[in-house]
Amino acid sequence: MKKLIGKNIIKTAIFISGKGTNLLNLIKFSHTKRSPIKIEAIISDKSKAKGLNFAKRYDIKKFVINFKKKGLAERKTLAFLYENQIDLVCLAGFMKILSKNFIKNYRGKILNIHPSLLPKYKGLNTHERVIKNKEKYSGCTVHFVNSKLDAGKIILQKKVKITKKDNPKTLSKKILKQEHILYPRAIKKIFL
Ligand code: GRF
Repeated sequence: MKKLIGKNIIKTAIFISGKGTNLLNLIKFSHTKRSPIKIEAIISDKSKAKGLNFAKRYDIKKFVINFKKKGLAERKTLAFLYENQIDLVCLAGFMKILSKNFIKNYRGKILNIHPSLLPKYKGLNTHERVIKNKEKYSGCTVHFVNSKLDAGKIILQKKVKITKKDNPKTLSKKILKQEHILYPRAIKKIFL
């Protein structure tokens, strides 16, 4: 990661599987003066991911790759990343787990955002589990990706208070709002 610092613009690819609200937020951030990143590509394992629409709207390359054959998919994705000289990968709602081999090829250059206060509530359905366990707080975390699920070094976290009225849906909404603040902040923390 250190090698990237000092480079003017960090060529970034965002990986998504769904709506892409974090993607849109990162695109907007990348257009601001203080942004160290330029978004060169949107990569999705789902051809129908809503977030892919932002590729056309913002004139960004898109790459859709079927992950049924994971080894092959990852090799093709790596080739695409190298061809486009991508320096940084930001996972933003990407629902596939990348292999050790893939991560090794981009060691220290893959970030992820997770909707919980890691190390608590790794994996899926975080909001449901948090509410079920009657937690008083949850939040979101931006971290480096290593070969263990949601376990890489934490860059930044934001705590969110849970009220009695909250359900998984309202909590998800509250946390998503904070995710949109946290991801750009984490990128700035690393690079600026
Ligand atoms: C976010 O909650 C993110 O933390 C999680 O998946 C969700 C993606 O949302 N990894 P969006 O596609 O960015 O709207």
